[in-house]
Amino acid sequence: MALEEVGRIYGDVGVGQFKVALTTPVERGEYLSVEDDTHHRVLCQISQLERKSDATAERTLETIAHGSPYNLADALFGKANVVGFRENGIVAVPQLPFKPGTTVFRADESLIADVMGLKENGKTGAYVGMLRGHALKVELDINQLVQRHLSVLAKTGGGKSYLVGVLLEEFLKHNVTCVIIDPHGEYGSLRFRSEKMRNAERFGVESRGFKEKILEFSPDTTLNRDAHPLTFSLKNLDARELLTFMGSTNVRGYVAPLKGLLEAASTANAEYTLKDLIRLAHARAAEEGNPTFESLAEKLEYLEETKLLAPVGTSLHELIVEGKMTIVNLRGIAPDVSELVVTRILGTFFEQRKRGKIPPLFIVIEEAHNYCPQQGQAMSSRILKTVASEGRKFGLGLCIVSQRPARVDKNVLSQCATQLILQVTNPLDVRAISQSIEGLTDGMTEIIQALPVGTCLVSGGGFHTPLFCDVRTRSSRHGGESINVIPT
Ligand SMILES: Nc1ncnc2c1ncn2[C@@H]1O[C@H](COP(=O)(O)OP(=O)(O)O)[C@@H](O)[C@H]1O
Ligand SMILES: [Mg+2]
Repeated sequence: MALEEVGRIYGDVGVGQFKVALTTPVERGEYLSVEDDTHHRVLCQISQLERKSDATAERTLETIAHGSPYNLADALFGKANVVGFRENGIVAVPQLPFKPGTTVFRADESLIADVMGLKENGKTGAYVGMLRGHALKVELDINQLVQRHLSVLAKTGGGKSYLVGVLLEEFLKHNVTCVIIDPHGEYGSLRFRSEKMRNAERFGVESRGFKEKILEFSPDTTLNRDAHPLTFSLKNLDARELLTFMGSTNVRGYVAPLKGLLEAASTANAEYTLKDLIRLAHARAAEEGNPTFESLAEKLEYLEETKLLAPVGTSLHELIVEGKMTIVNLRGIAPDVSELVVTRILGTFFEQRKRGKIPPLFIVIEEAHNYCPQQGQAMSSRILKTVASEGRKFGLGLCIVSQRPARVDKNVLSQCATQLILQVTNPLDVRAISQSIEGLTDGMTEIIQALPVGTCLVSGGGFHTPLFCDVRTRSSRHGGESINVIPT
């Protein structure tokens, strides 16, 4: 098929950039094809557009004054970047500028797929959507995602959880073991098929649920009824951790007395329980008349009610099952307790993965700014930094999800080799993103701020340069629907 001509190169031409006078309208971000001196078809991309005209202020006013129709001449001009051509499997760029006057065509899909590195139906491909404006599938290499980590960033309501749901569906189809830290209890809906299949034909997806592949755990099964209890062994916790589970803010005053109680309890009986600790605390309070022990007894009684601790806590083999997805539902759990839960389970995964006791894992951290903040410390910061920097050696992949990229620890975020960016408007977040992505042009930074819901920028993931992707429709139900105050 003949290529569609869209314009000609004009003016001064650079090696990586050129100007084009357009005879057919093209959109910002559209791919072009230009033949160079050595007869390579080179992939290029429109970065900026401008409609130039002779409509000066005076002439415009004159037109209005005379009541004549607005017919001042205008024409469309664009700036384009050179992406490159593929030769012997490698993307190269022409070493000489194109000649002014060279014809510019709309790029055909085979050229785009070849140069950008888009592959369809790969054995390890996670199909996340279609290249914007094209019938080309965007598939991310699952091995690379797990080995080199991933971030999903956008403002609230930008479509992060929806996109993570798409990714998880793909991981489940490929039998990859996943764990998701789910602060809002949104991901249990992956069990059910979606009833709203928008554009199902374009994306070629079928409605289905993943019930048989999902395990869900929560420290609070009264609130989160679909979950199994997530409990910890009393014996594995030190005084400080116990105090966090009790929601104690005055850690300092209690650490030493609680240490004393733990020692006494374990000396008396290696299989001590919370009841033993409570009894001891009451006894000490009576003996010594020390109100700290009375208050500790009360705290321990509260902890007993929460059912977070058990003589034998949830085992690793209950929590992680090869080829299945484990949801750690933290809905309704206090922030410091959530941090402790994340710290303990990630710590265990890291140690056990090192020993090869669990399969390679893909771990999603929703609301990551709470678990590894840039400013201040969360209890979980350390283990997240460790997994981010060393996890790849052991097959622990991270997916960092956040609506405040500027507030996520840079040490963690900078380890994510693939970034999926949906709409971001906060200037600090835009800056954090543009600083962390290689090959992001000014034009792309502008586009990110105006992306419609459902379109994301993919950077990394094995593609030659960042690209825009229309996120595919979910097969399973999305759990994070926006809620109307007034039903419509
Ligand atoms: N690709 C998409 N296609 C259709 N609807 C989407 C898409 N992405 C997001 N939405 C809708 O937008 C809303 C917000 O998405 P969500 O993923 O929950 O946002 P976030 O997690 O970023 O706050 C939801 O109601 C969801 O249904
Ligand atoms: Mg969300």
